[in-house]
Amino acid sequence: MLDQAQGLRELAKERRKNSKFITVASGKGGVGKTNFSVNFAYTMARHFNKRILLIDADIGMANVHILLNSDPSKNIKALFQGESIENIIVKSHGFDAILGFSGVDSIEEMDETSVALLINSLERVSSEYDYVIIDTGAGIDEKIAAFLRASTRSYVITTPEPTALMDAYALIKSIYNIYGYNNFKIVVNMVKNKEEAETTFNKLRLSARKFLDIDLEFLGYLPLTQNLKRSVKQKELITKISPTDPFSMQMRRICAVECGIETKEHSGRFWERVFDFLGNKRGK
Ligand SMILES: Nc1ncnc2c1ncn2[C@@H]1O[C@H](COP(=O)(O)OP(=O)(O)OP(=O)(O)O)[C@@H](O)[C@H]1O
Ligand SMILES: [Mg+2]
Repeated sequence: MLDQAQGLRELAKERRKNSKFITVASGKGGVGKTNFSVNFAYTMARHFNKRILLIDADIGMANVHILLNSDPSKNIKALFQGESIENIIVKSHGFDAILGFSGVDSIEEMDETSVALLINSLERVSSEYDYVIIDTGAGIDEKIAAFLRASTRSYVITTPEPTALMDAYALIKSIYNIYGYNNFKIVVNMVKNKEEAETTFNKLRLSARKFLDIDLEFLGYLPLTQNLKRSVKQKELITKISPTDPFSMQMRRICAVECGIETKEHSGRFWERVFDFLGNKRGK
C-alpha cells in the first residue's frame, strides 16, 4: 500500500496538472457523485456549449452507463488491455464518455499502472475538449489521489448528513496531509434549501481552516428532489427532462460559476429569473 502511494507520488511529481480535468470525489459513498457528474456533463455541453469528456473512473463499480442508458460493452477495460483511448470513447446526450465496468477479474484492472495509463491517455485526448470530468469511487485511496493530483479542479460532493460531512473532511485532510493538495471546491447535495447548504459548507470550511489552515471554495448546492430518482428510473437525465426542477436550475448555476459567468449575466433568461424568484422567496 505504501509502495503504491510512493509510486503514485513519484508519478505525480513529474506531471503538471491538467487545467481541463475536474475530478469528482467524496468521502462517503452514495452522496450523488455519479448523478452530479452525468448531469454536470450534460448541462455543460447543452447549455454552455462546452466539449465534454466524462470518464467513469469508479473502476470495477461503474454505473455512469446506467444513467446514460448506454451499452457498456465498449468500456475502459479495453484501454487497460491495450486498446487506444480514441476507440473506446462513446457519444451520448451531446457529450463524449468513457464507460466503466462492473466486477474485477484481475488485480491489474485496479492497479496504479492502469490509473497512470488512464491519466496519460486522457492527457493525450484532452486537447479535443474543454473539460474532462472524472467520476471516481467513494473514499480515499491512491487511485483517487492520483486523479485529484492530476487535476486543476477537484470537486468534493457531500450532503448535510454529519457522516458525509465528516468523511468529506477526512478525504480533504488525508489528501492534504499526504500530498499537500488543497484545491477543493465543495458541492452540497440533497439539501432542503440554500440555508442548509450554506450551514453545511460553513461547518466544513471552518474545520478545514481551523485544523488544516486551508480555504475551501463553495461551488454550489443541489436540492433533494424526487424527480432525480424518477428520471433515473425512466433512464433519462433530470437536467434534460425536467429543466425547471430546482436541481436542474442549480446545476446550471454551478456550471455558470465554473465557466466564470456571473449569474447576473443570465438574469435576462427565463429560467434564471425563475430561479432568482424562488431563491428570494425561500430567503424571506
Ligand atoms: N439531489 C438528489 N435528490 C434525490 N436523490 C438523489 C440526489 N442526488 C443523488 N440522489 C440519489 O442518491 C443515490 C446515490 O447517488 P449516486 O449513485 O450518484 O451517488 P455516488 O456518490 O456516485 O455513489 P457511489 O459512492 O456508490 O459511487 C441514488 O439513488 C440517487 O438517485
Ligand atoms: Mg458513483
